[in-house]
Amino acid sequence: MASNEILIEVRGLEKSFGPLRVLKGIGLAVKNGEVAALLGPSGSGKTTLLRCLNFLEKADAGTLRIGNEEADLRNISRRRILALRRRTAMVFQNYDLFLNKTVLENITEGLVTARRVPKAEAMDRAARVLEQVGLSDKLDARPYQLSGGQQQRAGIARALAVNPDLILFDEPTSALDPEKVKEILDLIRAVAKSGVTMIIVTHEMEFAWEVAGKIIFMDNGEIVEEGDPKQVFGSPRHERTRAFLSRFTGTKPPEYFI
Ligand SMILES: Nc1ncnc2c1ncn2[C@@H]1O[C@H](COP(=O)(O)OP(=O)(O)OP(=O)(O)O)[C@@H](O)[C@H]1O
Ligand SMILES: [Mg+2]
Repeated sequence: MASNEILIEVRGLEKSFGPLRVLKGIGLAVKNGEVAALLGPSGSGKTTLLRCLNFLEKADAGTLRIGNEEADLRNISRRRILALRRRTAMVFQNYDLFLNKTVLENITEGLVTARRVPKAEAMDRAARVLEQVGLSDKLDARPYQLSGGQQQRAGIARALAVNPDLILFDEPTSALDPEKVKEILDLIRAVAKSGVTMIIVTHEMEFAWEVAGKIIFMDNGEIVEEGDPKQVFGSPRHERTRAFLSRFTGTKPPEYFI
């Protein structure tokens, strides 16, 4: 797929929890190889959006296209869900590893059971991605024997192991000690350079500024504004975006981000 083609396209995505309308007709498009940073206040629907894109949550309405797989989310077959889901992987804030399994098993398990990858190939892939994230010496460790940063490395390795077209990151560094944040951001930056498309929910504004080709600002279940970092950080079009960003730029001059 050419690098300027749209890899993922969402139209009219709706999600309510009971009476609470959380996603109000979300539309977005991310190009192949692009890194999009998804920003927004707490409760604006960022996690719910990622979960809908990965079918951890069932959307009420909308269309989703990833590559050449397209579906109407209101009326989607199990088979189509599996086909679309296979294209993506998710990295969670709290790592979401199986606590009773080793690092190696955390990576091979999903490949073998959910994705039907032969055991030997799963082992090869796990070895490769664990080396990529710098965890080759922790194959037999269990999550409680790892630091937060190492657990998140394992989480990222698990995502890479499925050879996804798209990785969805939900605040991948927000549970980490400050000194571990940089090493995980450096790892994500390296993965981005390898050409994997990413949507990253983050509050790390400098990282978003530096790594993302596109900033998407969400508030109250809607995408308020999107654009390249220079435009969104430098001259946000909407008052809501400005108010949100001022919380981060307030202590630094605006040029810091430009
Ligand atoms: N399973 C659920 N059942 C009911 N309400 C939910 C559920 N999941 C999320 N919500 C509600 O949906 C809204 C959006 O939540 P979401 O977790 O998507 O926000 P967020 O933007 O990721 O926030 P944060 O920055 O704090 O992680 C919130 O009001 C939340 O309480
Ligand atoms: Mg969230």
